[in-house]
Amino acid sequence: MRRKGLASMAVQTAESTTSPAAAPVDLGPAAALSCRECGHRVPLGPVFACEECFGPLEIAYDFSGYDTEKLRARIEAGPANIWRYAPLLPVPADVADKPNINPGWTKLVKADRLAAELGVTGGLYVKDDSGNPTHSFKDRVVAQALEAARAFGFTTLSCSSTGNLAGAVGAAAARAGLRSCVFIPHDLEQGKVVMAAVYGGELVGIEGNYDDVNRFCSELIGDPAGEGWGFVNVNLRPYYAEGSKTLAYEICEQLGWRLPDQLVVPIASGSQLTKIDKGLRELIELGLVEDRPYKIFGAQAEGCSPVSTAFKAGHDVVRPQKPDTIAKSLAIGNPADGPYVLDIARRTGGAVEDVDDERIVAAIKLLARTEGIFAETAGGVTVGVTKKLIEAGVLDPALTTVVLNTGDGLKTLDAVAGTGLTATIRPNLDSFREAGLA
Ligand SMILES: Cc1ncc(COP(=O)(O)O)c(C=O)c1O
Ligand SMILES: [Zn+2]
Repeated sequence: MRRKGLASMAVQTAESTTSPAAAPVDLGPAAALSCRECGHRVPLGPVFACEECFGPLEIAYDFSGYDTEKLRARIEAGPANIWRYAPLLPVPADVADKPNINPGWTKLVKADRLAAELGVTGGLYVKDDSGNPTHSFKDRVVAQALEAARAFGFTTLSCSSTGNLAGAVGAAAARAGLRSCVFIPHDLEQGKVVMAAVYGGELVGIEGNYDDVNRFCSELIGDPAGEGWGFVNVNLRPYYAEGSKTLAYEICEQLGWRLPDQLVVPIASGSQLTKIDKGLRELIELGLVEDRPYKIFGAQAEGCSPVSTAFKAGHDVVRPQKPDTIAKSLAIGNPADGPYVLDIARRTGGAVEDVDDERIVAAIKLLARTEGIFAETAGGVTVGVTKKLIEAGVLDPALTTVVLNTGDGLKTLDAVAGTGLTATIRPNLDSFREAGLA
């Protein structure tokens, strides 16, 4: 069997856990944890690796008894946030009543001016997740992990982060009244550092890159010092990851319960992309959308492109890289879900591509200039890859395409440094005319 998914994490199996909880928990339709590799099932708990084969665990649901039309009506009558999809998530039925930062239901922008620039005729949309409470899609995943942390009795919320996750954890913990202590590479963008620190939790810079931070967190989980800590993307990862399904649900509902033909999704660990695929498949299985083909395209920065390198080489294992790119939020050199991303891109007829830093900056400006959306570097990566794939004839411009912008440009201002005043003038009309602005 091809060992997947856990190369960058310490292995914590169903038997070895720092969890204080053993009793059955109520996480709605989540029935058990199931190994993605061998199907072995274990009860819900704060574990992420299979005790049989060390494969990654994910949530197995019991959706039996759902009537398609009643479910659709219930979703449509739900709140304008991710909890409208609570029947499809590992959360208790009363989740919307608890203190939570309630992310989601972000705009799906019909990007006609960008489409014209890129030559897309089949309909181009930007799913703009910069509109979340801490300005990135990470609020979706943290909201699930918070419910799991509550269910398992954790008192401290933690994570290893490339920046956005740290802010999302800080905000969610603040709102829930939990302690947070999060770990980031010490040299992140100032906007990300401030966004992570402002919620009052502890923020620790690690001298190293994200992969070093992740390794450190895995050590901490196994140590008494990490007792009672819920690491959203490590020991709570199966729950956390499900939050990305809500992007798939929202996109389809906002398109009128219709699958897009093509999606362009950024890749750091690859979790988001794999769960968007899972969400789309669930909608098909539940009868909420028509079963027809869709293609998923993964997007990376050239300076951290382990998955696109493997895709282009036809490999099914991902060789780790040392990241060097302005797209720091995507700078994971050893992506846990990389092999699954390769499977999905190949199965759906998509691809994985990368763009260099210059193209990332150009794409940020293109999206801002055409649609009034200021994306962080991760959005520059997806828009840049979309452009590159259209130019290469890989993305079909005649098909409905959704491009994800997963974060806010205000957090990565340095990427567009030099963008500023058109002119400085004296406060009179002559000066205005002299500057050639009339
Ligand atoms: C803005 C942004 N987009 C996308 C991603 C990719 O997430 P994943 O690790 O699920 O691939 C990240 C991860 O940190 C991110 O911060
Ligand atoms: Zn297994």
